[in-house]
Amino acid sequence: MNADILSCQELTKSYGGVKAVTGASFTVGAGEIVGLVGPNGAGKSTMVDLIGGEQQPDSGQVLAGGVPLAGSPSRRARRAGLARTYQYPQVAGALTARENIIVGGLARGLSSGLGLLAAAARGVVAPAGRALREEAGQIAARLGLHRIDRLAADLTLGELRLLEVARALLQHPRIALLDEPFAGLASDGIAGLSESIRTVAAGGTAVLLVDHNVDIVASMADRMVLMAGGTVVFDGAPRDCLASTEMQAVYFGTGQVDR
Ligand SMILES: Nc1ncnc2c1ncn2[C@@H]1O[C@H](COP(=O)(O)OP(=O)(O)OP(=O)(O)O)[C@@H](O)[C@H]1O
Ligand SMILES: [Mg+2]
Repeated sequence: MNADILSCQELTKSYGGVKAVTGASFTVGAGEIVGLVGPNGAGKSTMVDLIGGEQQPDSGQVLAGGVPLAGSPSRRARRAGLARTYQYPQVAGALTARENIIVGGLARGLSSGLGLLAAAARGVVAPAGRALREEAGQIAARLGLHRIDRLAADLTLGELRLLEVARALLQHPRIALLDEPFAGLASDGIAGLSESIRTVAAGGTAVLLVDHNVDIVASMADRMVLMAGGTVVFDGAPRDCLASTEMQAVYFGTGQVDR
């Protein structure tokens, strides 16, 4: 049986009066793809932020390899091999796609396109070895992201999502958190991304895959976690999740399918 690389235990988080997450627990094992689904506002991105360190829980904890995961996002990246993508891509528009991929976590927070910060980042990226530049190109190509020497500012939203995934994969993460990577992708992009996610999981990475496309998630995931109103309402095999009364209630109870 796979060890649980990632374990969320009774996480609770409020923003002011808004209860975003209440007592949410689930695990992701090594080499496992866990799909996290649920309607808008269910608390999925908040869970990703609590794991990634962008937000601190009011209570509960996150364990990586059995050890409490704490501190800043960059500390978590170093200590636990954690890499993530953002629902709203965080890239430096003044850098090329390749530079953004290589600069990894350093590019976070540069999304405002501030020229000075981008120039500083370029100073970090420029000396990157040829091997790293080539690996960035290979990872991007497998994802279906081409012509990566374009400025990130010129990429479509779908391409920016692929850029974020490429950046995460270049870090060879033990834990990968992917927040809506399929959103806005055409079918060829979906195929390349699906294949890359399967490959990285086959290499032993624990993958948490958040997406509204329940069919894609179900086709890829080993397990599915369904959240609604900040709580986990189902955790089990994709087939069981799709057939569950909880799924019916969450997605069809209101007569609205959330895609
Ligand atoms: N930074 C924030 N400040 C205040 N409220 C927030 C913040 N982030 C999230 N929320 C609220 O917390 C709740 C959960 O939001 P969250 O973004 O985690 O949901 P989600 O499942 O990712 O939704 P979506 O599918 O739309 O991305 C929502 O009510 C949201 O409005
Ligand atoms: Mg979200």
